[in-house]
Amino acid sequence: MLNILLADSTFNELRNYIYEKCGIYITDTKKYLVENRLSRILQEKNLNNFEEYLKLLKYSTNGNELSRLFDAVTTNETYFFREPDQLHVFQNEIIPRIISQKRNPQQLKIWSAACSSGEEPYTLSMMLHEKGYHAKQFEIYGSDISETVLQSAKRAVYNSYSVRNVPVAYARKYFSCTGQTYALDESIKNSVKFMKINLIDDKNTRLLRNSDIIFCRNVLIYFDVKSKQKVASLLYDCLNPGGYLLIGASESLHNITRAFRPNILNKVIAYQKV
Ligand SMILES: C[S@@+](CC[C@H](N)C(=O)[O-])C[C@H]1O[C@@H](n2cnc3c(N)ncnc32)[C@H](O)[C@@H]1O
Repeated sequence: MLNILLADSTFNELRNYIYEKCGIYITDTKKYLVENRLSRILQEKNLNNFEEYLKLLKYSTNGNELSRLFDAVTTNETYFFREPDQLHVFQNEIIPRIISQKRNPQQLKIWSAACSSGEEPYTLSMMLHEKGYHAKQFEIYGSDISETVLQSAKRAVYNSYSVRNVPVAYARKYFSCTGQTYALDESIKNSVKFMKINLIDDKNTRLLRNSDIIFCRNVLIYFDVKSKQKVASLLYDCLNPGGYLLIGASESLHNITRAFRPNILNKVIAYQKV
């Protein structure tokens, strides 16, 4: 591995560029991470320093460099059945409420924003199937800014780390295991549509307007207050009246927005658009 130093002034420029493009704010303590992850790109592209890389980023027009940058700076940690208390509230409280609010029996629209490699939207789909809902009753979208994770999501083949919290009954029914890999059943795989969506870009988010439930978990932590406010406001616009926003258990909208009504359901906070 090349040992190319990232000067503080170039780090600042890179940090500002990343912030402007995707809302992620890289703190000084994470400089080493950027240095490590981007060094690999420099090496592959035979660039001599980070200043050359910054130029390449700014002048490249086809979006590939930006995509690669997003892959490098995002944290994609996820797994099936993450934060189960919230998932049970989704399955047993929120879904019945949304259904009872609808005048006509329409499809429910559920969006897993920043879904990484798909474990979250697929978990939601399995839970709805288990509750006896038919695939025609809901549409589920999964989105992320990173192309690479979206490709994995579409493949729907997972390792043992991803499936470690899957309840046995679900594992038997919805996965086929070969060695160390777990392939998701086609019925669940086909029930989720994946899209590339940058959460701080209103032209992107408006594609998922009229959602009934939005999961936006474990991504706001990477944003500063201003980006969090922007994302919260864009997601608000994407929800139907009465719809719910669910964020990660370690995240909060306190001091970010007052637009939502925080409902406490079985000790879980669900933000409702009223
Ligand atoms: C830690 S994962 C969370 C995955 C899943 N929601 C969960 O809780 O398990 C965070 C994801 O947010 C995505 N992300 C970061 N910034 C984003 C942005 N501006 N727009 C959309 N997705 C973004 C990353 O690519 C990453 O896959």
